[in-house]
Amino acid sequence: MSAPNNSFDPVEVTALHPDEVARMREEALAAIAAAGDLARLKEVRLAHAGDRSPLALANREIGALPPAARSEAGKRVGGARRDVSEALKRRQAELEEERDARVLVEEAVDVTLPWDRRHRGARHPLTTVAERMADIFVGMGFEVAEGPEVEAEWFNFDALNFLPDHPARTMQDTFFVESAAGGDSGLVLRTHTSPVQVRALLGRELPVYVVAPGRTFRTDELDATHSPVFHQLEGMVVDEGITMAHLRGAIDAFVSGMFGSGLRTRFRPSYFPFTEPSAEVDMECFVCRGASVGDPDAPCRTCGSEGWIEIGGCGVMNPRVLVAAGVDPERYSGWAFGLGVERTLMFAHGVRDMHDMVEGDVRFTSAFGMEI
Ligand code: DAH
Repeated sequence: MSAPNNSFDPVEVTALHPDEVARMREEALAAIAAAGDLARLKEVRLAHAGDRSPLALANREIGALPPAARSEAGKRVGGARRDVSEALKRRQAELEEERDARVLVEEAVDVTLPWDRRHRGARHPLTTVAERMADIFVGMGFEVAEGPEVEAEWFNFDALNFLPDHPARTMQDTFFVESAAGGDSGLVLRTHTSPVQVRALLGRELPVYVVAPGRTFRTDELDATHSPVFHQLEGMVVDEGITMAHLRGAIDAFVSGMFGSGLRTRFRPSYFPFTEPSAEVDMECFVCRGASVGDPDAPCRTCGSEGWIEIGGCGVMNPRVLVAAGVDPERYSGWAFGLGVERTLMFAHGVRDMHDMVEGDVRFTSAFGMEI
């Protein structure tokens, strides 16, 4: 058996020589002091205190020394590593403090600077509601159609089976457009969107599934529930084998899409010259769902405790309209409806007064945000 290697001289291991350890320590401390930012300090830490740094490698050599020499070498290398680690900690704290101070200055916000006081606009809620209404039908495969606001009397009335002496034609309801010579021009401001039915049929191949949102005009005084300018959404289907059941289904889908699912609808018999049979469409009140009817303790403001809300008119297209539009009523049938956009906005968003919709106060439109 060989004797312990007591004669081994630690000074022979170059990395553990006191001068060498002192040099490694000085080099590390100088690099730490010179690190100008945290990123650089990170590199210095890796180079001088990492697993492969000169001092770490020297530390590994200690195990190879004879036991008697290990303690002294251990103290020397350990002391140097401790100094380096403390210097790193101090420099880290200094650099972090510098960075925080700099961020405070660089990212300071001057709250006294003037800001942009101009009001940001928003689309008018009537526009967005009309678009949402039309979108529900587009989702069912309908196309969007358009017609002019200044309309031929023939499209607005005659083609829709209004006889010449129909009261809707009289001066009370209709804005007639004067000709340049001062006489009758044959033009009116359209009193409803229904003339788009005839235009859509004349301009398209059958079958036709269209909705037509648009502006309409009647000689009404502006009050809480009336306006001389208002909006409707017309809908029309002309195809083979079309029945009132399809109409009911489309209206139900609209009500669920606009006001929420599970609301009942009902048709009340009515009269329009261009439909036969004709109906007024009601939907169940989406607020009280009928609970307010006959209950004076829980009145409903939305439906006036009626339980039902009227949303428009509809019916099976009168064959005379189909004939006026060049469609064979023996082969094709159809239905149509007209929904009030202002009424829908009133109910959907709790707008109580028509004045708010027409006065153009930007605070009203802004409240509805920038719906796209
Ligand atoms: N045009 C009608 C109005 O302004 C509303 C209407 C009723 C439209 C029945 C229709 C319909 O298409 O079928 O009062």
